[in-house]
Amino acid sequence: ARTVQRGQDGQITVGGLSVGQLAEQVGTPAYIVDEADFRARCRAWVEAFGSDADVFYAGKAFLSRAVVRWLHEEGLNLDVCSGGELATALSAGMPAERIAFHGNNKSEDEIRRAVEVGVGRIVLDSFQEIVRVAHIAQSLGKRQRVQIRVTVGVEAHTHEFIATAHEDQKFGIALAGGQAAEAVRRALRLDGLELIGIHSHIGSQIFDMAGFEVSARRVVQLLAEVRDEHGIELPEIDLGGGLGIAYTSADDPREPHHIAKALNEIVSRECEAAGLATPRISVEPGRAIVGPTAFTLYQVGTVKPLEGLRTYVSVDGGMSDNIRTALYDAEYSVSLASRTSEAEPMLSRVVGKHCESGDIVVRDAFLPADIAPGDLLAVPATGAYCRSMANNYNHALRPPVVAVRDGEARVIVRRETEEDLLRLDVG
Ligand code: LLP
Repeated sequence: ARTVQRGQDGQITVGGLSVGQLAEQVGTPAYIVDEADFRARCRAWVEAFGSDADVFYAGKAFLSRAVVRWLHEEGLNLDVCSGGELATALSAGMPAERIAFHGNNKSEDEIRRAVEVGVGRIVLDSFQEIVRVAHIAQSLGKRQRVQIRVTVGVEAHTHEFIATAHEDQKFGIALAGGQAAEAVRRALRLDGLELIGIHSHIGSQIFDMAGFEVSARRVVQLLAEVRDEHGIELPEIDLGGGLGIAYTSADDPREPHHIAKALNEIVSRECEAAGLATPRISVEPGRAIVGPTAFTLYQVGTVKPLEGLRTYVSVDGGMSDNIRTALYDAEYSVSLASRTSEAEPMLSRVVGKHCESGDIVVRDAFLPADIAPGDLLAVPATGAYCRSMANNYNHALRPPVVAVRDGEARVIVRRETEEDLLRLDVG
C-alpha cells in the first residue's frame, strides 16, 4: 500500500507528489505521512484480528485529530495515556467507549474526566489507583469498566528504557508474590469498578513472539486462579503493543496476520488447558501502525568532510524532531531524495543543528560524495515517537505533519512559529 517511490526525474515521490514539490509547499523539515499506507495498516490489523478481538492504536506513538478520524473510520479503538491525548481523541469525535485510558500516575482530574465522559476502560496500574478510580466512579454515581495491568516478569529483548514487563520498573502490578491476585481481590470488592480483564504490555520494538507467548500464558494462569478463587471468568485480556518495525534492512518485522495467529493460538491453547472459555483479546500497536507510514524530509545546510573519519552532513532539524537516536541509540537509514547521483558512496553522519555533539539523526550512512547544501534527504520510518517526542530544544520550532494522498498534501499539524513559542513566555 505504500505510495513512496523514485520518480523518473530521480526524486522520491509519495502519494504522487515529489519531495521537491512537498518542500516547496510545506517547507523543511517536515514529517510526511502516507495516508493510504496508514489506513491500509489499520485495516490489516483489524482484519488480522477479526471480530473476536479489538485493536487499540497506541496514541503515544503519534496522535492528531486527523489520525483519530482515520482510526475511527477504519474501525480501530484508541489507547490514550494522558488528559491531553484524551482531549485530542474526544475533540476529533472518537466515541468514548472506544477509548482505553492508561498511565502509571493518572491525576485525579484525568481520572474524573475519563469516568465522566465514559471511556471504555481504565487500565489500573497500582493499588492506590484501584481505590482512587473506585472512589471517583462512585462519587459520580458510575461503575467504571477497568482492567488491571500486571507485570509478567518477561525480559523483552529491546532497549532497557522501553522494556516494561521485567520486575524492576514502574509499571503495573507484579504477578509474582501474589500481588496481582491481591489487586483482583481488591478490585472485585469495590462497587465503583467493573473488572473486565487483565492487561500486560511487555515492551517495544519486539520481533520475537516468545515474550508474548510467556506473557499470554501467565495472564491466562491468573485468569484460572481468579476463577478458582472467586468463581468468575474475567472476559478480556489485553496483550499490549510493542511489535517491531523495520528501521533498517536488518530488521525483519512480523505481519499482523502472523501476530494475530500466534496470539490467538497461544491464548486458546492455554485457556483450553485451564478449562476456561477463551477471553476476548485486545492488542495495542502504536509503532507498527504509524511508524513505517512517515518519513522526515530535511534539507542539507552544511557538509563537513573530516579527513580519514567521515563526512558530517548537517540538516535543518535534529534531536528536536527525532530524539530516538540520541536517547536509544536507534538506527535509521537515509536517502538522497531530491535527485539521484552516480557519485561514490561516502561514509557520512547526518546531524542536526542543535548545540551538542549527540545531536545525531543517522549515525552511519553512505551518502553520495557530491552531496551538497540544498539537497533534500529523506529519513524513513519516523512516523512513531518522533513528532510525539519532539521538543523545543534551542527554541527549535517543531515541524509540521503533512498527510499526502492522491497527489494532494494536507497539513494536519502545522509548523510551530516563533509566536507559538513566545505565547507561552509570559514573564
Ligand atoms: N500499550 C502500552 C501500555 C504501552 O505502554 C505502549 C508503549 C504501547 C501499547 C505501544 O507500543 P508500540 O506498539 O508503539 O511499541 N518512546 C519509545 C517507545 C515507548 C513505548 C511506550 N509504551 C520509542 O521511541 O521507542
